[in-house]
Amino acid sequence: MPKSIIIKKNGGPEVLELHDVKIGSPGPNEIKVTNHAIGLNYIDTYHRSGLYPLKLPIGIGLEAAGKIDEVGSNVTEFNKGDNIAYASPPLGAYSQQRIIPANVAVKVPNGISHEIAATLMTKGLTTNYLLTKTYKLRAGETVLFHAAAGGVGQIFAQWANSIGAKVIGTVGSDEKIKVARENGYAHVINYSKVDFAKEVLNLTNNKGVPAVFDGVGKKTFQGSISCLKVRGMLISFGNASGPLDPVNVPKDIQPRGLYLTRPSIGQYFTNRKELQAGADQIFEKVKFGKIKIRIFKRYKLSDAKYAHADLEARKLTGPSILIP
Ligand SMILES: NC(=O)c1ccc[n+]([C@@H]2O[C@H](COP(=O)([O-])OP(=O)(O)OC[C@H]3O[C@@H](n4cnc5c(N)ncnc54)[C@H](OP(=O)(O)O)[C@@H]3O)[C@@H](O)[C@H]2O)c1
Repeated sequence: MPKSIIIKKNGGPEVLELHDVKIGSPGPNEIKVTNHAIGLNYIDTYHRSGLYPLKLPIGIGLEAAGKIDEVGSNVTEFNKGDNIAYASPPLGAYSQQRIIPANVAVKVPNGISHEIAATLMTKGLTTNYLLTKTYKLRAGETVLFHAAAGGVGQIFAQWANSIGAKVIGTVGSDEKIKVARENGYAHVINYSKVDFAKEVLNLTNNKGVPAVFDGVGKKTFQGSISCLKVRGMLISFGNASGPLDPVNVPKDIQPRGLYLTRPSIGQYFTNRKELQAGADQIFEKVKFGKIKIRIFKRYKLSDAKYAHADLEARKLTGPSILIP
């Protein structure tokens, strides 16, 4: 019987339990998939801990790549044997096999392995919308990205460089400076030691940057605000250090006419066509060497709890996957 990670209660990594699951046949608009690689994402820890509440018990994980075993009667865009990837609710990607709606999957082209595809959907689609849609990053601009050596962080700088932009990155330890630099960051600041906002102002002749991409949240919010230039944009897209406190608009936003947004993937890729187009842009960049993916660590599916512990302990420098 296929195995799947289920949570019956919220809590630490130990609540991730491996169970046998029964998989039936797909409904008319569904596909049955054998996962070959599963993406590990910080959001999975929010689902596990209860920061993002869910009705329990529930499977966990949003992202995987694999092969189609069976297609539902109404599904015309996929066939048995196709290589696909997905990064979307319904949760349950931490599984050997499962059924998903056909409209959340994309075709993975030849030349992109399941392992690479499983690192590209969430992190690549996020990077895609962050710098092409939320803030249209242009050649010659310099922006700030927090947690530069992390999963999204590594793809972000490479993509930004490919369009001629520069990125200042922050990291939590000196060891991560080298990793961020290797991924194309022009300047890297260890924000555990240095006041990053002051450093960004120094680097930009006190002007500040036009955009800050902040997946760290609570700990970096005030600094991110203070190193933006007039009419700059704070893109708060995650809460690795905890969710934001309520925003004081008169104090934080009004004086420099700033923009603040809190986006998610689903708001930018709203149907299968948009999803496939967004994924194809990433696959192309990887195929043509504009973005290089180095998988940092592979865990067995049964070791998902260790993967979560490492992610939350900030030990992972780069995209990591679970192997079912
Ligand atoms: N909104 C969206 O559409 C969307 C989509 C995907 C991801 N995200 C968000 O993007 C962020 C990055 O995701 P990821 O999966 O690529 O994770 P990641 O960057 O690989 O890991 C999170 C990083 O956050 C940093 N961090 C800072 N303070 C932390 C703390 N108190 N505890 C733990 N980590 C802390 C750590 O880097 P340092 O040690 O260098 O500080 C850590 O490595 C997350 O916040 C995630 O939720 C949002």
